[in-house]
Amino acid sequence: VPGSTRHFLKDTDLSPAEQAEVLELAARMKAAPYSVQPFAAQGSGRKTVAVIFDKTSTRTRVSFATGIADMGGNALIINPGEAQIGHKESVEDTARVLERMVSTIVWRTGAHSGLVAMAENSKVPVINALCDDYHPCQLLADLLAVKEHKGELKGLTMSYLGDAANNMANSYLLAGVTAGMHVRIAGPAGYLPAAEIVAAAKERAAETGGSVLITTDAKEALRGADVVATDTWVSMGQEAEKEARMQLFRDYSVDSDAMALAADDAVVLHCLPAYRGYEISADVIDGPQSIVWDEAENRLHAQKALMAWLMHRSGLAFVEGLS
Ligand code: CP
Ligand code: NVA
Repeated sequence: VPGSTRHFLKDTDLSPAEQAEVLELAARMKAAPYSVQPFAAQGSGRKTVAVIFDKTSTRTRVSFATGIADMGGNALIINPGEAQIGHKESVEDTARVLERMVSTIVWRTGAHSGLVAMAENSKVPVINALCDDYHPCQLLADLLAVKEHKGELKGLTMSYLGDAANNMANSYLLAGVTAGMHVRIAGPAGYLPAAEIVAAAKERAAETGGSVLITTDAKEALRGADVVATDTWVSMGQEAEKEARMQLFRDYSVDSDAMALAADDAVVLHCLPAYRGYEISADVIDGPQSIVWDEAENRLHAQKALMAWLMHRSGLAFVEGLS
C-alpha cells in the first residue's frame, strides 16, 4: 500500500509498544537465527538490501551483512566514495532508483536531513545506520543487552557521560525514555543535547513513565545508576578537534571512581570503538560489569529483527507472530 512504508531514522520512530515488539522479536531470532526470512524469494521477492556507507564501520557493516544473509538476502555494501550519491547525484534521485531494485536501504551518513530525503522518496524501508545526530540501531542492541542482563527495562536508571551533544547521547536519551527508563545525561556546558531533543525525550517520557535529567555534574548522573554508558570523545569527522576534546571531557570518564557511585550491580555499555584511558578506563571496559561484547553481538540480532519488522509493517513481507 503506497504511503504505508515504515522507516527507522531516529529512535522515536518506534512507539514504546513497537520498540518492545522489535526487542522481543530480536530475542526470538537470537535463539533461532534462521527462523525469519523476509528477504527470501517467497517474501518480498527482492533479496538485495543496499547498505551505503559515507563513513567507515566495522560492527555496522558486519552485522548488517551477516543479518541480511541469515534472512535469505544479499547485502550490497557500498563503501564511502563508491556511488554517485552526494557528489554527482541527489539523494532524491538515488532513492528513486534504489527503491525499484532493493528491499531495504540502510545508510550511514552525516546529515539527518539526507536520511529524511531518502525516506520521503522511497517506498522501501530506510534505516539510519548512524548519522551525526542519532545511532538508533545501536540503541536497539544496547537495550537488548541490558534486558538480557537486567530483565525489565522500565524503571531502570541509565546514565550517559561524556560528549553529550553527539549521536549516541541523543539516542540513549530518546531510546531510553521510549523503554520507560530514567535517563541521565552528563557532559560539559555547551556539549549537552539540543533543546528540541530534550523536549522530544520529555514528551516520550511522559507517555512511558520514564524521566530525563540533563546535567553538567557527572556525580549527580552516576549516583545509583543501573546502567552506565559512554562513547568516544572524538566522533567521526571531529578528528581535527581531538586535542581540545581530550581536555574538554576529562571529568566525564567512566573509570573505577565513577563506577563506585553507580549501583553495585550496574552494567557498563560502550558502542565501540573504545579509547581506553579516555572516555572509559581499561579496568572498567575489560572488567566484570562491562557487557560491551554482548552489546556488540546484539547489533546482529537487533538489526535482523528491525529489518524483518519494517518489512512486515510495510506490507513487503510477512513475519509470523507480529501484529
Ligand atoms: N558501534 C558502531 O557503530 O561501530 P562501527 O562504527 O564499527 O560500525
Ligand atoms: N559517536 C561515534 C559513534 C561511533 C559508532 C561517531 O559518530 O563516530
